[in-house]
Amino acid sequence: MTQNFYITTPIYYVNDRPHIGHAYTSVACDVLARFMRLSGRNVKFLTGTDEHGQKVEKSAAQAGTAPKAFVDEVSQHFRDLTKTMNISNDDFIRTTEPRHIKSAQGLWQRMQENGFIILGSYAGWYAVRDEAFYGEAELVDGKAPTGADVEWVEEPSYFFKLSAFGDKLLAFYEAHPDFIMPASRRNEVISFVKGGLKDLSISRTTFKWGIPVPGDEKHIMYVWLDALANYLSAVGYPDTDAAGYKKFWPANIHMVGKDILRFHAVYWPAFLMAADLPLPERVFAHGWWTIEGEKVSKSLGNAIPAGELVEKFGLDQTRYFLMREVPFGNDGNFSRERMGIVINSELANNVGNLVQRTLSMIHKNCGGIVPDSQGVAKDELDLAFLQKVQVTDKATPEHIVTRYTDCKFNEILADIMAIASEANMYIDTKAPWKQKKIDEKLMQATLYHLVEAIRCIAIMLQPFIPDSSSKILTMLGYGESQIKAGVSFNELTPEFAIKPGTVISEPQPLFPRIES
Ligand code: MSP
Repeated sequence: MTQNFYITTPIYYVNDRPHIGHAYTSVACDVLARFMRLSGRNVKFLTGTDEHGQKVEKSAAQAGTAPKAFVDEVSQHFRDLTKTMNISNDDFIRTTEPRHIKSAQGLWQRMQENGFIILGSYAGWYAVRDEAFYGEAELVDGKAPTGADVEWVEEPSYFFKLSAFGDKLLAFYEAHPDFIMPASRRNEVISFVKGGLKDLSISRTTFKWGIPVPGDEKHIMYVWLDALANYLSAVGYPDTDAAGYKKFWPANIHMVGKDILRFHAVYWPAFLMAADLPLPERVFAHGWWTIEGEKVSKSLGNAIPAGELVEKFGLDQTRYFLMREVPFGNDGNFSRERMGIVINSELANNVGNLVQRTLSMIHKNCGGIVPDSQGVAKDELDLAFLQKVQVTDKATPEHIVTRYTDCKFNEILADIMAIASEANMYIDTKAPWKQKKIDEKLMQATLYHLVEAIRCIAIMLQPFIPDSSSKILTMLGYGESQIKAGVSFNELTPEFAIKPGTVISEPQPLFPRIES
């Protein structure tokens, strides 16, 4: 039976234009989604926009537009981001859609029926920028711990009995040690929960832009409860008989930035427990990018639109750099200079060069046809090289799957680059141009092993740089429909090795060098 895999990005606030931070989360999810499809999983990959709340209402007012017209326009920018970054999402959800409103209200009702929602009144601090409540003791110099301005809020409010879930959450983290990743973040969440959970205000009455509380429409649902419900809305909740729900709930992974981990690793599981719903398998919190050493912020005006990088460096080059530069989970500093260096040394000089050299030699010496390696006994170097390149398990080996679900993207890329370097060294050591003078058969065997290595490298790179991998696979004779569907990771085995006699097209330049 095909395994299902449900992966989500956070839904993006429509108060801002998409920038490198948003592109980062989306590309990481895209890599994982593509990998899972190529490993035979049935994938649902969801992204979308978070369109309610005071922050969005304020941004619309500042723009002099009615909230609905404002969110329609800005949401489109995030839809465009999926095209700009070649994101393979299967669904795009907007929290202003009827399917979501129904789902969020359904979740509320379920939590209320189960006795976890009570009416009271709230008096405390609220930061619109974070859409979060803060206790007096949490404030630092009169601001939220995140640096956001806070305002005093006093109003009737429904409360969620979060305090009833502390022990249940701790028991859950204990029983599911991989629920929160990376481990350092998990420890932070555990100490936060151990510090004691207070009931959470989950409705507001002093603004209008949101989902009405079912049965008491003066109240608007807290935007985080509204937003988190999106993950359920997209699979058809509250209809738990819906095909999508049956196939894809609970989600396999919610990818989030470290700034919104608490909402996903504490509030969200507590809401789900309150509604008797199964909990997601994993929440992975990635780090933050600074730009040339500075925090990305609207006031500094330093946010880089994703499209700008794609235009200057290329789409796959941008995707590659984002996944390669820092271990996923750590913070990173974005610098255009580093980006140029990484693209040149790894994509242009390593992979690009390997493809160019090998395919040109096949054209020059073998009439553009994959030569045969039969009749030439493999020496130690050949055997060691092929062993590094090929995968012998029939299904995608479990250790590779685990590296993906653990989001070790930079390590996976480092390994693929090591194979490409190895292949470049193999050319230098074997020196096919010299072999040709001794015995053409020796040269042909070397070129055969190289072209097979390129095939494997291109298959492995598909999740990260899909367009460039497709170009390479096309040069190696793969058909259009095969490439469109993606070449499965199962084809990394020798059984699928490239056939001698395959016609190779002229090598096309893949990664132009970036001039500083
Ligand atoms: N709307 C909420 C999420 C609700 S999910 C139920 C939200 N939206 S956001 O647009 O502000 O942020 C979305 C994601 O972008 C977050 O995961 C955040 O961490 C990420 N990034 C925004 N700026 C970033 C960087 N500078 N670097 C890396 N990621 C950052 O939060």
